[in-house]
Amino acid sequence: MKEFCDKAVEYGRRKNSRLVLALDLFCEEIDCKDIPRKIVSILDDLRKYVAGVKFGLPTILTMQRGVLKEIIDVFKSEYFFIADMKIADIGYVSRVLVKIVKAVGFDAVISHAIIGYDALKEVVDEAKTEGIGVLSVCAMSHKGAEEAINTLFTKNLEISVKAGVDGFILPATMPKYIMEARRIYREHLIFSPGVGIQGASPGSAVRAGADFEIVGRTLYTSESPLDIAMKIVDKLRW
Ligand code: XMP
Repeated sequence: MKEFCDKAVEYGRRKNSRLVLALDLFCEEIDCKDIPRKIVSILDDLRKYVAGVKFGLPTILTMQRGVLKEIIDVFKSEYFFIADMKIADIGYVSRVLVKIVKAVGFDAVISHAIIGYDALKEVVDEAKTEGIGVLSVCAMSHKGAEEAINTLFTKNLEISVKAGVDGFILPATMPKYIMEARRIYREHLIFSPGVGIQGASPGSAVRAGADFEIVGRTLYTSESPLDIAMKIVDKLRW
């Protein structure tokens, strides 16, 4: 949905930040009951430096839906919110997932592109009905991705564009994919994970053509997420 792209760019520009925080907190790392408080505290601290927040399945499955919704409601004027569902399912189930994601208050959902045009189109159609955006995974950041999913990179991009997604998830660890996607598709947003613990340095994906870099553990496991965010965002200005 165009609205998601507009919102992401508007929030990014307003804060002069291309930084997206990934939250994959779960109960073994922190006491379950402390997770909402920890999230609120990080979001409170980082509001000047982080444009959007991506919740991953570990956190989504750990938190009560009502609590997650409350947190998103409180911070929705400060951040855009992405649900990293990595959808890879039949249309019926995908549509249900999109409805739930919307009901919790997210602005966009992540789906795999490798499921093919028909299945991805169902995700996009439902997302349009619900008024949220779709980002599709076209290549992944880990080494093993080169064995399978990344071999279909070009096809994944084509399927995604034909289905009408808003943007792509492309690996900061493999900038060749970012450069190639940006060369062909100028209108789509590119979000790149893999910065920090996975090895890519802050700013490298944006230099290759990404719009936003996604950073998780480097921020939320740090003693001072604020100090780290301030350093990273200096490399991620508009
Ligand atoms: P870290 O802690 O490594 O978190 O900074 C990265 C976040 O991004 C997700 N991730 C990916 N998602 N394609 C994706 O769709 C990828 O190649 C990829 N690599 C990392 C990961 O789930 C975590 O939330």
